[in-house]
Amino acid sequence: MLASVKNILKEAKDNGYAVGAFNVFNMEEAQAVVRACVKKQTPVIIQITEKTMNYSGDGLIYDVVKAVVDHESATIPIGFHLDHGYSYDTVVRAIEMGLDSVMIDASRSSLPENIAITKRVVEYAHARGVSVQAELGTAPRLGEMDSDPDWDKLMTNPLEAQWLVNETKIDALAVAIGNAHDFFRERSEPDWERLDAIRKLIPDTPIIMHGASDWNDHKVKEAVKRGVVCFNIDTDLRIAFNTVLCQFTHDKCTIIDPRTVMAEAREAVQRVVEKKIDMFRNP
Ligand code: G3H
Ligand code: 13P
Ligand code: ZN
Repeated sequence: MLASVKNILKEAKDNGYAVGAFNVFNMEEAQAVVRACVKKQTPVIIQITEKTMNYSGDGLIYDVVKAVVDHESATIPIGFHLDHGYSYDTVVRAIEMGLDSVMIDASRSSLPENIAITKRVVEYAHARGVSVQAELGTAPRLGEMDSDPDWDKLMTNPLEAQWLVNETKIDALAVAIGNAHDFFRERSEPDWERLDAIRKLIPDTPIIMHGASDWNDHKVKEAVKRGVVCFNIDTDLRIAFNTVLCQFTHDKCTIIDPRTVMAEAREAVQRVVEKKIDMFRNP
């Protein structure tokens, strides 16, 4: 059943485990995530981005995910969240569509600008019972910057995190401790001491780790021990989905029924989600 993202994060935080937040863009990926969490009997978060809203249409992707959850998830709590809302307008679109949790990502702006837009979003969202995740520091993406960045400049400043949380009253914070999106090479080891310092200063705020597709058991274990309650996963699902599509699109492919391809892609994504869930639940 669709459930409050805020409550899912709180449950995880109170009980010392983490959940996955998985990006989906269509019915098959939503089914893969829901089937995995039903099999594992564990809550998850499904998330979409503005690009996905544009790809499918706001109301349509909402209805697709909701229908999959209604049909397949029974009583397992599944959150539905906007990932990386880059503007106030995008967040409003997502809330109007029905999401009960949104991210405002002003992490590329100055701290005062980040605080100002996040505060505006929180005012709008909280008045409608919607929770808000913000980001401070940068989890880079390919093409955005040099592949060997100065991590000290990118990572979250703990005191600034405390300031942002106090000023904005956000419900969750995405941090940067050397993590990176997609295939961007991460810092050799996450800055664990920094994570400890952040947690100490914002003990009541759930901490979210973006760019976690390439995180192994060791990193996940350390992160959960130090208070991370949610890992964002997109790239590994894309790889699983596209690998199947590519296998079927070679010259000699004789498959005529696209459902054969989509069903295999769906199963491949489900297998990845199951592995991640195991890692996050029992690091
Ligand atoms: O960080 C989020 C995604 O990996 C990027 O997703 O291509 O749907 O914006 P997008
Ligand atoms: P990955 O690119 O590592 O899957 O991270 C996804 C993410 O952070 C979505 O917000
Ligand atoms: Zn992200």
